[in-house]
Amino acid sequence: MKCDNLLHKFKLSPSILAADFTRIGEMVQTAENAGVDYIHIDVMDGHFVKPITMGERMVSAIRNITKLPLDIHMMVNHPENHYKSFIDAGADLLTIHIESLCDIKNLISEIKQYSVQVSVAVKPQTSLQTIENILGQLDGVLVMTVEPGYSGQPFLHQMLPKIKKLHQMLEDLGLSIEIGVDGGIDPDTAPLVYASGARMLVAGSAIYSPDFSIEDGVSSIRSSVAIE
Ligand code: DX5
Ligand code: ZN
Repeated sequence: MKCDNLLHKFKLSPSILAADFTRIGEMVQTAENAGVDYIHIDVMDGHFVKPITMGERMVSAIRNITKLPLDIHMMVNHPENHYKSFIDAGADLLTIHIESLCDIKNLISEIKQYSVQVSVAVKPQTSLQTIENILGQLDGVLVMTVEPGYSGQPFLHQMLPKIKKLHQMLEDLGLSIEIGVDGGIDPDTAPLVYASGARMLVAGSAIYSPDFSIEDGVSSIRSSVAIE
């Protein structure tokens, strides 16, 4: 049975990068029925990060088979050349890396002309100072808890103070924008990031795995935080 999203303590966004690509539609719909809040689509261009993953056509195919909002994680250089085609394909939330080669302030204003949300992602080595002056323009910040590029990497525990610091910065500024985390989120790390202030949890291999069902992956992460 589908859960009521309003009852969730945090949003869960499964990263389909870890899913079986021969059965993407089914894997998205099973996650939807298990009560996730978003579908996270990792777009990699082979430049910003080494792998090449998927593009607009995948987003538009997924748009046709789910009602869930689509969260597009743009690991690309020059996102200004690509964002519009992802909006046209059905994106609801665009996450742009602060390290990608672009005029970020200008790009956020451009994106905001459309009815999509914008979030900025920061790689593990990137300091929060780099996004201080754009926080007011954003709907969210995605703190990378692994180096972007691959699913299944171990969570970087040294990112916990960064999440807490961001939480404090937002509180000091009176901004209620959402903190997301991406990389190595599982039933062990979910309570830690939640306690640090993250409220949007992206999870790939802890939801899509040959070792357990998608339903079990989702409920393990949900209940790991509920019992904290
Ligand atoms: C990594 C991607 C993540 C990744 C998460 O660059 O941005 O979304 O798929 O996978 P896990 O949860 O397995 O670390
Ligand atoms: Zn991602």
